[in-house]
Amino acid sequence: MKITVIPGDGIGPAITDATIRVLSALECDLEFAFCTAGETALREEGALLPEKTLQSIGETKVALKGPITTPVGEGFTSVNVQLRQHFNLFANVRPVRSYPGISTRYDSIDLITLRQNTEGMYAGEGQFLSDDGSRAEAKSVITRAGSEEFLRYAFQLARSMGRTRLTLLHKANILKSTSGLFLSVGRSVKKEFPDLEYGEMIVDAAAMNLVKAPEQFDMLVTTNLLGDIISDLCAGLVGGLGMAPGANIGADTAIFEAVHGSAPDIAGKDLANPSALLLAAALLLDHIGMPHQAIRIRRAIEETTSQASTRTVDLGGTLGTQAYTDLLISYIHNQ
Ligand code: NAI
Ligand code: MG
Repeated sequence: MKITVIPGDGIGPAITDATIRVLSALECDLEFAFCTAGETALREEGALLPEKTLQSIGETKVALKGPITTPVGEGFTSVNVQLRQHFNLFANVRPVRSYPGISTRYDSIDLITLRQNTEGMYAGEGQFLSDDGSRAEAKSVITRAGSEEFLRYAFQLARSMGRTRLTLLHKANILKSTSGLFLSVGRSVKKEFPDLEYGEMIVDAAAMNLVKAPEQFDMLVTTNLLGDIISDLCAGLVGGLGMAPGANIGADTAIFEAVHGSAPDIAGKDLANPSALLLAAALLLDHIGMPHQAIRIRRAIEETTSQASTRTVDLGGTLGTQAYTDLLISYIHNQ
């Protein structure tokens, strides 16, 4: 099977290289089509998102993507937003879980946030800033069709992953038209899934409850902007973005990535922790029907976090990207 690989910017190439080495150690017969996007692509090919990258993803239908630096304030649209729109990657799946040895307030978090990925405040419509800078506007767009496609996928994913409880987060008390439409679609789609427990919560209350008693949640389902914020909150519950993968899912295409960015402050210093991209690769393996290989990656990572001496620097250890990857590969060979 062929997958598109976009190393990206900053620490992207280093963590992508680590991930490819681990995937190769698994001997799962993947072929890699390397493409560019982001600053690297702008420098080398004159476009942030070159046509041949879009073509490759269109062909392979599955991509692994390193973080991308989007130049600020120069009129560039975020590459990530462009990819989501272009391939209609309508669902963003962000699982977080506790890892042994990474100490946080809670030690058994296992939560998934599902964020609608193409509508809401990110639809890019109605952006307006008056000439004198005194007034700004942006439009939030929610459609019944988009919400249905997304929510049905959310319930199906919950079922296929053996999840039991789905909580829809909304702000329909204030945003009556947009959030209200999303909520009403949720209420009708849930009827197709009577085996799943369904609940609703206003997002601000959910933010407080997630911090106070996260065990009451299993899978969170929400609109674009709310999901962006809530999924980072969830990452914070397990110790930050270092271990947080994300999957952008469409009807026939999927792009897997780390939730964190290109970390320019540590780029080129062998300090990046490749775990989030490795966990994204594990989601990719699940997606293409290789769940046993995905489990091998997760097990190897668990082994490393359980002891301080085998952790990367960001997690209080001493290992650099390369040495950490060597260790993971040796664990994989011993499995
Ligand atoms: P960031 O996530 O790149 O970095 C935040 C902090 O976390 C930094 O101190 C960084 O060193 C550290 N960090 C992040 N990933 C790490 C890793 N794997 N190992 C060790 N430490 C890690 O966020 P920031 O600085 O806000 O953004 C930098 C650039 O990344 C920006 O251009 C932003 O637009 C882009 N970005 C791209 C994303 C993507 O392509 N999916 C997502 C988020 C940001
Ligand atoms: Mg975000």
